[in-house]
Amino acid sequence: MPYTLYRGDALTALAGIPDNSVDALITDPPYNSGGRTSSERTGRSARAKYTSADAEHDLANFPGENRDQRSYGFWLTLLLTESYRATVESGTALVFTDWRQLPTTTDALQAAGWTWRGIASWHKPVSRPQKGRLKQSCEYIVWGTKGSVDANRNPVYLPGLYTASQPRKGRVHITQKPVEVMQELVKICPPGGTVLDPFAGSGTTGVAALREGRQFIGVELSKHYADIANERLHNALTQDDFELAGPEE
Ligand SMILES: C[S@@+](CC[C@H](N)C(=O)[O-])C[C@H]1O[C@@H](n2cnc3c(N)ncnc32)[C@H](O)[C@@H]1O
Repeated sequence: MPYTLYRGDALTALAGIPDNSVDALITDPPYNSGGRTSSERTGRSARAKYTSADAEHDLANFPGENRDQRSYGFWLTLLLTESYRATVESGTALVFTDWRQLPTTTDALQAAGWTWRGIASWHKPVSRPQKGRLKQSCEYIVWGTKGSVDANRNPVYLPGLYTASQPRKGRVHITQKPVEVMQELVKICPPGGTVLDPFAGSGTTGVAALREGRQFIGVELSKHYADIANERLHNALTQDDFELAGPEE
């Protein structure tokens, strides 16, 4: 089977993944952000934080959004440490974050042992203008490698800026990432290699990985979202006529 989805806690599931067995960690963790004050960030649900009042959807809440700043940094470091152990030498980590958690995410990545290589941006053209302020129209992808970059292993040239709107039609998760962006990002994993996403949500990273001929290991704590991810992964295999990619010419 080219994919495995675990239903449960990311740290617990990661402990069962063998050393040096995945090629790329590509993940979109709960940001534990979305508020000016500590009580706004820790006291509100994901739905309250990330869904605007005029949103045309009524999607399910998700867990893991109520850590304070210090414990978020600590927890993210643990996750990135376990993911580092599970990743092959010269493998890659791509971790989504927002402007508030950018410094914490770059700290956690490095504390976990990864070599920080840069930040790419996901630009959302349809974002809310804010009077008297600069628009927050980007989320960020902090990236790094386990040791040195081995360009011969995967000789790709990838952009540092991705523009796409959040899915509207057929959207199934509050913070769902556009599959077209994820399809570009999974190319950091060598063809036929394995992508790991310990916060799979609705399974977008996995769908992208399968579409691009990569294998996928995902973890999702919410039963509601794990069921959705399972269905989307299954459809990606059956409808997209999955074939493991060989080395790119
Ligand atoms: C930001 S969302 C990911 C959305 C995903 N990128 C998508 O396109 O659907 C983070 C996900 O992590 C899950 N989560 C929260 N805490 C978790 C934990 N401890 N272990 C595994 N998954 C967790 C949430 O239920 C949520 O679905």
